[in-house]
Amino acid sequence: MNQFDSPLILTTVAGLQLHLRLLEEKDLPDVMELERNAHSHPWRQSSFEDCLKGRQRCWLAETSQKLVGYVVITHAGGDAELLNIAVSPKFQRKGIGSTLLQHAVSCVIGHADMLFLEVRISNRKAIELYSKEGFFELGNRKNYYPTNNGHEDALLMASQL
Ligand SMILES: CC(C)(COP(=O)(O)OP(=O)(O)OC[C@H]1O[C@@H](n2cnc3c(N)ncnc32)[C@H](O)[C@@H]1OP(=O)(O)O)[C@@H](O)C(=O)NCCC(=O)NCCS
Repeated sequence: MNQFDSPLILTTVAGLQLHLRLLEEKDLPDVMELERNAHSHPWRQSSFEDCLKGRQRCWLAETSQKLVGYVVITHAGGDAELLNIAVSPKFQRKGIGSTLLQHAVSCVIGHADMLFLEVRISNRKAIELYSKEGFFELGNRKNYYPTNNGHEDALLMASQL
């Protein structure tokens, strides 16, 4: 952990106070519950466990000591990638996603020139969020994601840091 990994408090546009801190092993059950509630095709727990050992960072957002969202980022060789972002369905549309995304950007500034991400082409909420926060579309990856009855394209997006 370095100085940039220290816990912090941020306030959303809606005035909600968020306590941000890095994932710890004890958080995994709550993170997996939120992951299953928020995503149609959730990550396995092992993907979050990787954040405890490697270059990936999983930042948790809590309000009144309750987990309400998280963002996972990594950087290497001048590029950074946003690997996951989710907000508890009950807490969506309160500015938490934007606050987490802005925090992710601030974490990789100075380590990378571009922040990349991939998103399901059908995920309108997330694409709106990324566009609002200054991400632009770079292209598609055909049939990149599994669906319940086949595959769908990924939209590749990036933000200049
Ligand atoms: C995408 C997600 C993280 C957004 O989180 P959030 O806390 O609801 O986002 P915010 O309240 O900060 O919204 C920011 C902007 O995103 C867009 N947005 C968010 N929810 C939206 C919705 N239901 N419909 C349309 N646009 C939406 C809007 O532009 C919004 O700005 P506005 O409220 O001023 O119009 C959340 O919907 C989520 O967890 N989805 C499931 C997981 C997921 O799909 N993650 C992305 C994987 S790539």
